[in-house]
Amino acid sequence: MSRSILRGPTGGVTVLRHVTAIRYVTPLREGGSLPGLMEADDLGTYVVKFHGAGQGRKVLVAEIISGELARGLGLPVPDLATVDLDPELGRAEPDQEVQELLRNSPGLNLGLDFLPGALDFDPVAFAPGPEFAGRVLWFDGLVGNVDRSWRNANMLLWHRAPYLIDHGATLTFHHNWAAALVDPSAFATRPYEAADHVLLAAEPDLDAADAALTPRVSGELLRAAVAAVPDEWLTGEPGFDGPGRVREAYVRQLTARLDARDAWLPGIRAAAAAAGGNRPVTRAPNPPSWLSWLPRS
Ligand SMILES: Nc1ncnc2c1ncn2[C@@H]1O[C@H](COP(=O)(O)OP(=O)(O)OP(=O)(O)O)[C@@H](O)[C@H]1O
Ligand SMILES: [Mg+2]
Repeated sequence: MSRSILRGPTGGVTVLRHVTAIRYVTPLREGGSLPGLMEADDLGTYVVKFHGAGQGRKVLVAEIISGELARGLGLPVPDLATVDLDPELGRAEPDQEVQELLRNSPGLNLGLDFLPGALDFDPVAFAPGPEFAGRVLWFDGLVGNVDRSWRNANMLLWHRAPYLIDHGATLTFHHNWAAALVDPSAFATRPYEAADHVLLAAEPDLDAADAALTPRVSGELLRAAVAAVPDEWLTGEPGFDGPGRVREAYVRQLTARLDARDAWLPGIRAAAAAAGGNRPVTRAPNPPSWLSWLPRS
């Protein structure tokens, strides 16, 4: 590709930036969990996902582990931060739903660096190329991401480059740890449903992705990703003797999934081959004319 949208390896960063929210700006109603745009004491603006939302803290854990794993694999992800919230900030909010959400989310929440002016990714407007498409599909297969479909790409286009967002629907085994501990191979070998993936028709090069990314999913990278999760979101997990044990279990599950690529990667290859050459699907029947200045390769 002419201008690389893939990044080099990152170091073992394990501590997320920590900021304190100072102002609630507006709700982002596109998101089912009602994320909010907030300003923080570092003069940054963040998309904040709240632990008091209906989906609970597990989706925040998945955001961090999968987000940091993606970053470590060179995929573009907005910076993550933990955001300390004083629920008093929601007092003046006219919307009762927002007020309740903030009231239920004191203390640590998850922030994503806000990418101002970012567009929702549309594969017709921006062709990411086989290398990038292959790596994103491979990564989504590894973490079992069920939320990157043509209906809801969960990718943004910012400064003409794609960014991956919304990894809350990955690592779904953690919603039932008891079953995952009894049968660790269930997640490892589960086929990945790629048929609706937003990049399936982008001629993803899965062989190149497999060769490039497999050696990069090291124990060190996995441990760094799980270390980024705050202890308090791992505390009190039934069946575990503290946050350290929960982190080890995530590393074991992901290592087993990596080792079981023969169980899920061929299914993604077959789905891509079946979609090959099809024009990527877009939600917009006629892409607006102003999209024409965006690069097509
Ligand atoms: N870092 C960011 N910068 C700019 N906009 C963002 C960012 N993160 C999210 N958004 C916007 O907010 C919307 C909702 O975000 P996201 O998909 O992460 O939330 P969600 O509640 O998990 O949504 P979903 O309904 O897909 O589960 C995105 O579609 C995007 O428009
Ligand atoms: Mg989303």
